[in-house]
Amino acid sequence: MITPTRTLVSRALQSKGEGQEITVKGWVRSKRTGKEVSFIALNDGSTIHNIQVVVTDEGLVSSVSTGACICVRGALVASQGGEQAVEVQARQIEVYGEAVDYPLQKKGHSLEFLREIAYLRPRTNTFGAVLRIRHAMAYAIHKYFNDNGFYYLHTPIITASDAEGAGAMFQVTTLDVAAPPRGESGAVDYSSDFFGKHTSLTVSGQLEGELGALALGQVYTFGPTFRAENSNTPRHLAEFWMIEPEVAFYGLQEDMDLAEDFLKYLIQYALDNCADDLAFLEKMYDGELTARLRGVVSEDFVRLDYTEGIDILKSSGQKFEFPVEWGLDLQSEHERYLVEKHFKKPVILVNYPAAIKAFYMKQNDDGRTVQAMDVLFPRIGEIIGGSVREENLGKLSARVDELGMSRDELWWYLDTRRWGSAPHAGFGLGFERLMLFVTGMANIRDVIPFPRTPKNAEF
Ligand code: 4AD
Ligand code: MG
Repeated sequence: MITPTRTLVSRALQSKGEGQEITVKGWVRSKRTGKEVSFIALNDGSTIHNIQVVVTDEGLVSSVSTGACICVRGALVASQGGEQAVEVQARQIEVYGEAVDYPLQKKGHSLEFLREIAYLRPRTNTFGAVLRIRHAMAYAIHKYFNDNGFYYLHTPIITASDAEGAGAMFQVTTLDVAAPPRGESGAVDYSSDFFGKHTSLTVSGQLEGELGALALGQVYTFGPTFRAENSNTPRHLAEFWMIEPEVAFYGLQEDMDLAEDFLKYLIQYALDNCADDLAFLEKMYDGELTARLRGVVSEDFVRLDYTEGIDILKSSGQKFEFPVEWGLDLQSEHERYLVEKHFKKPVILVNYPAAIKAFYMKQNDDGRTVQAMDVLFPRIGEIIGGSVREENLGKLSARVDELGMSRDELWWYLDTRRWGSAPHAGFGLGFERLMLFVTGMANIRDVIPFPRTPKNAEF
């Protein structure tokens, strides 16, 4: 074990104030100066709660103001005031860093303003809570898979293949972009690029995840993914984290069961382990938060064919901004109608038209749909996208050709269907979409420390 050089505020607040010596270190949230005593609310990030520091010697706190970083030595005692059980009676205060003209004040700031100073926002109550919950969710994801016999597979971030074939990718190159080498036709000659070919940041670890599943049986990825779509919405990031389990011998039913069990486990984990932070977010932003989380954990998700979903939307009498027609992709307004208005619980929509889904999805016998499954959540819309994978070499190759994709570039992927091919399925959970749901925050920019969105790569 490491030897602590200080007591975490979270631990100090749980111990009894019996006058014991204590050292706490952290950042001043506020300072109140009375006639004979000053009170400092100190936060060290270990909990949403501050510890109260009582100072009787004004000389100790003259250079201490909101935002300053200090070390306090003193006695932990039972508090006289009603708001906290214990407080620190300061004997000595060392100022590590003053904070003159500190931009964060106690009154609270708008989330928009805090985005502009994202380098400081972890020091606010809101972002402290969000970031602690984010950590808890990441831990719970690894725990869930480890406990269920899955292996964590690290898939590459730089790739030459476009797994989804849908969104634009960010190019990775060491060529001089102002004057790249060109072949005879005038096209850029990537043979002299770093990797000797055109490469990008990955949109998904799935294709390599499948290679892992066809050897280790049950794997998952958990890494950053990148999409250069110009979607300036509260639910899209250009850089986001995705969790992608991939499982040999799974069909559509098992894939849905895994998705539902996994989501419920994560939400229950948050309820069990992040109560203080959830209570704060509920009070500040979303009075329904924990009720909604508990609702999702206790409900069976609806499982519905895309075709039936379209019928429900068409006969809903609702006015939607985007058209509803068999063959068209659902927009988030449609997804949310099904979840929030019609069924009032999460919905797993399956068997989408092949034309609006990726090349690798298992084709149904009807010749027009594939074994896709999207999990739709209240407030979020699509939180998970997944499918059974086409394991038949002939059908998969035909689809690659049909879409004008290159068999040569996907040779390794196609080869897995040549040797020991197996039925398999998986899905991708957008980590920040999960975070939106669990925290009740409204904008995806507020559930990742440093968001990357169109025209924004600050910090
Ligand atoms: O539905 P998507 O595109 O599926 C895949 O990438 C598959 N390869 C997953 C798989 O089967 N292994 O993305 C999966 C999820 C979405 O449901 C959504 O939650 C999230 O990733 N997502 C985004 N999150 C934030 N910003 C974006 N731009 C996102 N695009 C997708
Ligand atoms: Mg999707």
